[in-house]
Amino acid sequence: MKVTYHGHSVLEIQTEEHSVWIDPFINGNNQCKMEVKDVKADVILLTHGHNDHVGDTVEIAKKNNSLVVAPFELAEYIGTYDVETHPMHIGGSHTFSWGRVKFTQAFHGSSYTEEDGKVIYTGMPSGILLTVDGKTLYHAGDTALFSDMKMIGELEKPDAAFLPIGDNFTMGPDDALIAAKWIGASINIPIHYNTFPVIEQDPELAFTSKLGNKGKVLHSGESLNI
Ligand code: NI
Ligand code: MN
Repeated sequence: MKVTYHGHSVLEIQTEEHSVWIDPFINGNNQCKMEVKDVKADVILLTHGHNDHVGDTVEIAKKNNSLVVAPFELAEYIGTYDVETHPMHIGGSHTFSWGRVKFTQAFHGSSYTEEDGKVIYTGMPSGILLTVDGKTLYHAGDTALFSDMKMIGELEKPDAAFLPIGDNFTMGPDDALIAAKWIGASINIPIHYNTFPVIEQDPELAFTSKLGNKGKVLHSGESLNI
């Protein structure tokens, strides 16, 4: 699979026949060079309900007839916008025609703030394991370091790990380095940094330079074949 990073926690995954997006936060994402109208998505996977992850899901899904796959409570909420959803939950996996999805735990929160400021709670936050053609990508979502990342490494053997390094809301670089060691993926890509002042980081200096050939900074718009 070909994975393109669009800043923050946004991944675009091209399989042979499908375009799968994770956490498509386009409007308001100062690292993203794309416009919502140019996004082509067959599927949107969501880790949790925060606005910087749900992003432009509803607009994209309506325009593209995308299927939205999310933890149950978030899928229910997105479904109220008349969008097709497939609810799942932590520990559950499902094999779709375009790949296998398994939700993992994440230590964080999950709520959506509507335009009028009303906060809707959207269940538990999660991480996502996506397996396509025998290769597995782990998108950790927004999370603290947790010791069951060792279990994810041991049981799921991800080939690539996308780990938040921004600190403040999630792991910072030092904890993300421990996460990378525990997960054991052959390549680790930092996400969730430099989008807001409070999560500014130097991803090379603080993270990838300490991982040798197991770390790679993907600049916004850059792709990696997994
Ligand atoms: Ni969040
Ligand atoms: Mn976030």
